[in-house]
Amino acid sequence: MKVVLAYSGGLDTSVCVRWMIEEWGCEVITLSADVGQGGDWEAIKARAISAGAIAAEVVDCREEFARDYCAPIIAANALYEGQYPLVSALSRPLITKHMVAAARKHGATAVAHGCTGKGNDQVRFEVSTRALAPDLDVLAPVREWGMTREESIDYAAKHNIEITASVEKIYSIDDNLFGRAIECGEMEDPWNRPPEGVWEMTKVTASEPMEVTVGFAEGVPVSIDGVEKPLYQLIGDLNETVGAYGFGRLDMVESRRVGIKSRETYESPAGLALIMAHRDLETITQERDLHHEKLRLEHRYAELVYDGLWFSPLKEALDSFIESSQRFVTGEVRLRLEPNRCFVVGRRGPQSLYDYGLATYDAADTFRHTDSEGFVRLWGLGTQTWSAVQGPGAIEAAEKAGNGTS
Ligand code: ARG
Repeated sequence: MKVVLAYSGGLDTSVCVRWMIEEWGCEVITLSADVGQGGDWEAIKARAISAGAIAAEVVDCREEFARDYCAPIIAANALYEGQYPLVSALSRPLITKHMVAAARKHGATAVAHGCTGKGNDQVRFEVSTRALAPDLDVLAPVREWGMTREESIDYAAKHNIEITASVEKIYSIDDNLFGRAIECGEMEDPWNRPPEGVWEMTKVTASEPMEVTVGFAEGVPVSIDGVEKPLYQLIGDLNETVGAYGFGRLDMVESRRVGIKSRETYESPAGLALIMAHRDLETITQERDLHHEKLRLEHRYAELVYDGLWFSPLKEALDSFIESSQRFVTGEVRLRLEPNRCFVVGRRGPQSLYDYGLATYDAADTFRHTDSEGFVRLWGLGTQTWSAVQGPGAIEAAEKAGNGTS
């Protein structure tokens, strides 16, 4: 059987290559996706081949990742449980898409991943595969082999698989252009403060406050300080700028799809800054009902992406809604950066609904104050009727009547 394995080049996926050959007699093709995590791709390819892969593919997905995965998340202001910008959850469907393409190209009948049975990533790989290629099998060797970390290291040594891992590796890390997830080690006690050493993208090195202006076109970030950039470059640059102020850290206990509460730390300097800016621009460019309905759906959208339903009918329908909602989300947002802080200090847009004449309290006021009298009276009429018959008004009247007769 030919199988395409999602390959990071780390210990587990390297052992997966050999193990599937030895135990299941597979022919293994590895697929590594560059989603901006950085890495020596030639060395990673060589490691896959040395572990026994018949082919090792590396796909540069950085542009696609930014355009088709990060941009929709920014447009949706999608934050799982109100906080997590879905860093790892975003890359899995993209990697799956490329695994399926590689499976077709090589005539493979299965795809495989190196996830354990406890996490969300297995869910995302498998459900995405079911959606894109229902005929393919999904293999998960790590869920079956029951090796400890020490045993995996021994296995690699025994089969001459060169790996960089050591027994005392403490953290499980996943990173890409949109951020970094760091878990395990002493952080498994949710009371423990994350050690300073876990942070990489968000170390405070800047001390002088500054401002950056982010430009959006129909909900997509397109420029920084007036200079247009491709999105993957814009996100990369902003990671540096914002990260230098230490902004973009998260420390949370999240509810995984498989029923486990887990303590997670994340860094997503550009991701969180862009969502903050985008969300702000929507406040001046979206009509009230549209804006409020979108706020209700954002949470659901984040949940679907987190749960591995990137390729699903509801997600697709919500994408249409979001796309339509972004028609006028064009303009600029000023972000101010201070050590450990990033916040919005200004926003503007050519189709902004902010009307100075309506909003101002000065002489330029164009609002017809007298219109409010009738409007507010009718707005409160139902409440007034309720109060008189069933509410506080009725109670007071009853008390008065009672007092009168006693
Ligand atoms: N808990 C996060 C998520 O579900 C992060 C997963 C990171 N993956 C990893 N192998 N460390 O999206």
